[in-house]
Amino acid sequence: MKIALSAVAAAALLIAAPQSASAWPVNAPTCEEDIRAAILFRDANVNRSARWAANLKSWYGAGEACPQCADDPCGNHGYHGNWEGLECRGDWIIEDGWSRWSGQKSAKGPCKKITNFHLPDRGLEGPFPEHLKYFPNLHEIDLDNNAMIGELPEWLACMSNLIEIDLEDNDFTGTIPRTWGNLFQLEEVEVDDNPQLRGCIPQGLPANEHGGKVSFSTDPKIGTSWGGTRINGQRCADAPMPDCSHTKIPEDAPMPSKGTLPEEIELPPGHEDMTPEEAAEYFRQRLASNTVHSNHP
Ligand SMILES: *[C@@H]1O[C@H](CO)[C@@H](O)[C@H](O)[C@H]1NC(C)=O
Repeated sequence: MKIALSAVAAAALLIAAPQSASAWPVNAPTCEEDIRAAILFRDANVNRSARWAANLKSWYGAGEACPQCADDPCGNHGYHGNWEGLECRGDWIIEDGWSRWSGQKSAKGPCKKITNFHLPDRGLEGPFPEHLKYFPNLHEIDLDNNAMIGELPEWLACMSNLIEIDLEDNDFTGTIPRTWGNLFQLEEVEVDDNPQLRGCIPQGLPANEHGGKVSFSTDPKIGTSWGGTRINGQRCADAPMPDCSHTKIPEDAPMPSKGTLPEEIELPPGHEDMTPEEAAEYFRQRLASNTVHSNHP
């Protein structure tokens, strides 16, 4: 079967044509601060449970097909790489009351930003993952339909780019932090079906969503939904911004891995026709036989 460039071949292309900051957009690297945040998140959560481990096992190098490659969560598939659940959709543009993603090709800046964290439907357990706070450019957090418990964090208010928070179908307790009312870009907040959530809705959150469940679309200001909770639907005052200093990436956080592969690997003839499995096998063999082609100066 003919396939588009497989994950492995794509990873290899990255190696064959080293990225440079000026080569925006296709060959731009993932932003360093985003990679460092992802590494912190991975290392803090990978051993939390078997489910967390399974969902973070691709968070190395260019993904599972090439964990030895340089760290590149955004990859070059357009809006994502091979780190499960992470997406890099470009800039969030608000124009004439409508909003949309720019896509990578039209995004500004010298590097690709991790904009979306999507790990729904995984059965992920435990408290809200604190290390999300380090992602500097997140616009969407989707932990819909997991098994998360505990209180919702006040510091989420520090993630000022957020447009969507989807925590539907979990077991969170307590109330929606009033600090969240400071998230002025929010268009969608879903906390439905967290049976123990209670209390009021901070004034600054999006308008009430009608009709229960919502799904994200290009509609501006989709709303806040809380069916299946003990939230009373009343609006209450926002709280001032919390202390956000602890959300900065620590100076001693690990730097991105540059990879342990030789700098250049040549794609085999006919690589366009390889399946991902064939491509992965090709690279395994090349690495094992240590006959990797090297034509860099
Ligand atoms: C996770 O656990 C494995 C096995 O015990 C260990 O080798 C690895 O270093 C741990 N990873 C982190 C990031 O703590």
